[in-house]
Amino acid sequence: MRRTTQSFILAVGLIFSVICWQNHSVLKNVSHNFNNHILGTEAREITQLPDTNTDFIGIRRNTEINCRKIFENDKTAISDARDLAKSYKRKYRMGPKRYQELAGNCASFRSTRGYMDTPVNEEEAMFPIAISVLVFKEIDAFERLLRSIYRPQNVYCVHVDTKSDDSFRAAVLAIVNCFENVLMANKSYPIWYDDPNMLLADVGCMRVLWYTSVDWKYYTNLAGTDFPLRTNLEIVKILKVFNGFNDVEGKLTGDARWRWTDIIDRVPLKLQPLKGSIHVTVNRDFVEYVMTNRTAADLLTWVYKAHYPEETYYSTLNHNPKLGIRGTFSDYSVRKRFLGRYVVWKGDDVCHGVIVHGICVFDLGDLSSLNKKYEMFANKFDIADSFAFDCMEERILNRTKEEISGNTQFNVSYYQDYISALSEYILP
Ligand SMILES: *[C@@H]1O[C@H](CO)[C@@H](O)[C@H](O)[C@H]1NC(C)=O
Ligand SMILES: *[C@@H]1O[C@H](CO)[C@@H](O)[C@H](O)[C@H]1NC(C)=O
Ligand SMILES: *[C@@H]1O[C@H](CO)[C@@H](O)[C@H](O)[C@H]1NC(C)=O
Ligand SMILES: *[C@@H]1O[C@H](CO)[C@@H](O)[C@H](O)[C@H]1NC(C)=O
Ligand SMILES: *[C@@H]1O[C@H](CO)[C@@H](O)[C@H](O)[C@H]1NC(C)=O
Ligand SMILES: *[C@@H]1O[C@H](CO)[C@@H](O)[C@H](O)[C@H]1NC(C)=O
Repeated sequence: MRRTTQSFILAVGLIFSVICWQNHSVLKNVSHNFNNHILGTEAREITQLPDTNTDFIGIRRNTEINCRKIFENDKTAISDARDLAKSYKRKYRMGPKRYQELAGNCASFRSTRGYMDTPVNEEEAMFPIAISVLVFKEIDAFERLLRSIYRPQNVYCVHVDTKSDDSFRAAVLAIVNCFENVLMANKSYPIWYDDPNMLLADVGCMRVLWYTSVDWKYYTNLAGTDFPLRTNLEIVKILKVFNGFNDVEGKLTGDARWRWTDIIDRVPLKLQPLKGSIHVTVNRDFVEYVMTNRTAADLLTWVYKAHYPEETYYSTLNHNPKLGIRGTFSDYSVRKRFLGRYVVWKGDDVCHGVIVHGICVFDLGDLSSLNKKYEMFANKFDIADSFAFDCMEERILNRTKEEISGNTQFNVSYYQDYISALSEYILP
């Protein structure tokens, strides 16, 4: 039995090495294309046309800004970039019409916009991730987020709010049609504050992803205002350390209980409801449970009637050990971090940008602190008025380029320490 397993692993390894050796030139080419299209000549040409609405392929709308120094909190670099931002305003967005045109030619769209057409390496190739994105507006932000997280081995689902402009929806569709592994949600919902639709949209995307043939290892969900702090390969390395652990928030603070007090007597299996975030990073068993288990369906029906159901559903599933779901947490009173998302809530920390709905929209002054965070994604970014988004994109692309050129070291000791400290609470 053991010998067969060993031979099997050996054979798979051998076959893989052959495939990878064959594809080595392809990997090199990705790096070449990255240099040319993302950071090279085409980016530089843009600065020579500062007053026109020309498409920019480059990641910076102005190469005079020095993102590297901004990440080091260099005050002069920050104030220079702020001055430039004032004169740029919204001019440099491409907008839905232009995106629709560009995506009309998929091959050229994928290459000129710098989409990876091979995995960075086999470690990444062996660990596909399923990602859903709920978007409402700002096609430029959506497309630049997508190209920053896109890998051919992953699978993506996009939900567009029914309230979105037709032009936005058409542009998203055109982009999605360029990728076999990017799918639209089966059903679109209008997403309002404090109603079940956001949760339904998310579960809908989860279903689309669950029924693909991709054997993805983890599911995560994003908003159009998120941006990655880690590359896909770094995320893979973190999720491998997680080893099944679900990164789901769950709290039972005083301001949480009012959300469900009037329906608490009807909660299925007398589960303890908790408050968390809709943003989760969960293993396949968790998703399977949501897709197939009667209790998950009953809880979904129950949670519709609570306030902010999207903040209660996954949290409750994840912190009730009697459900027996792998990777969930046995004791919600034990404090843990939320590594899925770095968010600055009003008053919790310094915010150099503006506060919208109680959340900091990051500005250039926030980048040096973002640079030191361990979370996988950060929220929120606004592509319109500052270069913060551009610098974040440059940072991720630089790291990806380094990975492509062979520097795939990433120190996971922080995550290892975290998981080992929590291990007794994680359901096997
Ligand atoms: C290797 O390249 C071929 C053709 O370019 C592609 O079909 C195949 O999926 C690649 N394999 C891997 C593991 O990337
Ligand atoms: C590398 O890219 C160039 C142009 O982008 C293309 O002509 C060439 O065939 C590619 N080579 C490989 C090995 O994929
Ligand atoms: C990204 O790489 C380019 C080219 O090496 C470099 O000039 C730039 O400063 C880097 N940006 C960041 C944010 O490190
Ligand atoms: C999506 O909807 C179609 C038609 O309503 C249905 O046939 C299909 O099974 C659905 N797919 C998923 C994954 O729910
Ligand atoms: C559904 O979940 C319950 C409790 O978590 C478990 O006892 C039951 O076996 C599950 N049912 C199915 C069909 O998986
Ligand atoms: C990784 O980080 C830890 C803690 O910061 C440090 O002690 C360790 O030496 C680092 N490992 C490597 C290989 O750099």
